[in-house]
Amino acid sequence: MATLAVYPGSFDPLTNGHVDIIMRGARIFDRIVVAILVNAEKSPLFSMDERVEIAREVFKAQHNVEVDTFDGLLVDYVARRQAQVIVRGLRAVSDFEFEFQMALMNRRLDARIETVFMMPAEQYTYISSRLIKEVFTLGGRVHGLVPELVEERLQSKMQR
Ligand code: PNS
Repeated sequence: MATLAVYPGSFDPLTNGHVDIIMRGARIFDRIVVAILVNAEKSPLFSMDERVEIAREVFKAQHNVEVDTFDGLLVDYVARRQAQVIVRGLRAVSDFEFEFQMALMNRRLDARIETVFMMPAEQYTYISSRLIKEVFTLGGRVHGLVPELVEERLQSKMQR
């Protein structure tokens, strides 16, 4: 049976840390779905449509990477897609506590679904979407930390 994995998140914006995890997942699983949570934040920097468009463009050459959106409980979405695995990235020990809680809660909600943690390459371990937004908004350089398309979109937002 083909293994389908779901990589859920807010992706506001997609970072090179996310890209690294998705590429690792795409090598291990038959198919990986980048599942973008609808309305995760009250005022996201990138709209849902922009986030979907960016992710689709970045992974257009990766035929086993799909981009989708979801709302409600993650386990319901995963079951609906008949996926077996939730992929989450672990950057540092500080991520562990919350990720551990989520993984166990998701297991309690649906014991058929397994959470698999993956570590990004070291150079991405300190990157988060929140920091990217903050640094960029305050005039800092984010080159090399996000896909070029994200950098372009950030720049055009600042010019508006
Ligand atoms: O990119 P993020 O913000 O770390 O992603 C968090 C996400 C989307 C994985 C998490 O908030 C989530 O799964 N939300 C959906 C609602 C849900 O299922 N909540 C219970 C999780 S135990």
